[in-house]
Amino acid sequence: MFKPEVYKLRRESLKKDLQKGLYLFLGNNETPMNYPDNTYHFRQDSSFLYFFGLNIPGMAAIIDIDNDKEIIFANDVDIDDIIWMGPQASVKELASKCQIFETYEFSKLSDYISDALKKGRKVNYLPPYKHDNMILLHSLLGINFQEMKTKASLSFIKAVVKLRNIKEEIEIQEIDKACDIGYQMHTIAMKLAKPGIVERQIAGIVEGISLSYGSVPSFPIILTKNGQTLHNHNHDNILQKGDLILHDSGAQTPMFYASDNTRIVPVSGKFTQKQKEIYQIVLNAINGSIKLMKPGKTYMDIHLQASEILANGLKELGLMKGNIQEAVALGAHALFMPHGLGHAMGLDVHDMEDLGQINVGYDEKIQPSKIFGTAFLRFGRELKPGHVLTNEPGIYFIPELIDLWNKDRKFEEFINYNKVNEFRDFGGIRLEDDILITETGNRILGSKRIPISIEEVEDIMK
Ligand code: GLY
Ligand code: MN
Repeated sequence: MFKPEVYKLRRESLKKDLQKGLYLFLGNNETPMNYPDNTYHFRQDSSFLYFFGLNIPGMAAIIDIDNDKEIIFANDVDIDDIIWMGPQASVKELASKCQIFETYEFSKLSDYISDALKKGRKVNYLPPYKHDNMILLHSLLGINFQEMKTKASLSFIKAVVKLRNIKEEIEIQEIDKACDIGYQMHTIAMKLAKPGIVERQIAGIVEGISLSYGSVPSFPIILTKNGQTLHNHNHDNILQKGDLILHDSGAQTPMFYASDNTRIVPVSGKFTQKQKEIYQIVLNAINGSIKLMKPGKTYMDIHLQASEILANGLKELGLMKGNIQEAVALGAHALFMPHGLGHAMGLDVHDMEDLGQINVGYDEKIQPSKIFGTAFLRFGRELKPGHVLTNEPGIYFIPELIDLWNKDRKFEEFINYNKVNEFRDFGGIRLEDDILITETGNRILGSKRIPISIEEVEDIMK
């Protein structure tokens, strides 16, 4: 955990934006895999971690503005727990680590809330995403499951997002650490790739690297020769000369901060000419758009500029044609990049996605696009110092999407379908770095950038 005062200060900042009422934070519980005592790796809710820091299942907290109280609800362990789990700190000891001095048994939560409801007080909560917490909310507040997300408190969400979107120095240090572990995960994959290896042999070692640093992967590892499928979690293919591996993975530090990087690895150790040509376009897009990332620019604009770099490169190769600015504005490039340029990253790899993309990545000034491709941009806001974002352009040849668009001759003034069809077995290329917006521009997070130029990648593979 960070020092106790960190959590106290965060709650003080939050309270400045909260109106009267009661604000409920539900921590996460252990989740059974196949029977109750055989559970998935426990992951605390990120907003609970941010304001209370306690990585313990079975907790809830209340900030009661009207009565100026901060309370943690949780049960002390009993002797049965101690026999199986060893000695555990008491709830009082745990709560003091985040400067909370009022604690009650978990069962008292429903008394506290029903008392508030009886007095006509509003109980504000964040959108739940775990079914057990939905059931709990239903029993505490009597809200229908269908309405549970829409009835979450928008002002509460916005107050949390306002704080979590701007990373503190101690958080940036953690993300730097996550990126350094990510560096090891990525460079080992580059060194292991060779013909005859099965994808899972590399993916397993990459996961092991993160575990060896006391970390875990920040999301299920993507390591595949079928990179045209954006989130391909299959690792069963035997790698062959000529294949490209798309490797998208990151670490979550013991303090729960994430990294998220993507690199492309030519299995034979050398890119073919055709691969180099597409790779270089994506490399130009990531490098060109990172240069533009600074306070005052919107990420929507950077997404569109990265898309133009991609589309111009594709035009040079004869895959696109016509007026490229117009093509990008209309969304023709999304045949090749049907996703956004990046997302916020922090305690979650897609930071605060549980609180809603529109609340995290957009505001009154910048609204999400409705155009296919750009509509999937998770963060379009004006950039501010302290924002942490991924920058991850890609070019993919998705045969099903090519055929669908080709059938309708969609955007045929911008897309040369005959040429595109020559690439239908190419796969996909994505490159991804994690970027901190600074006062004057930006910095790629981590002590060293993971090898990215064609020469750097081929060099490390020797
Ligand atoms: N790296 C996985 C994602 O950004 O969705
Ligand atoms: Mn990402």
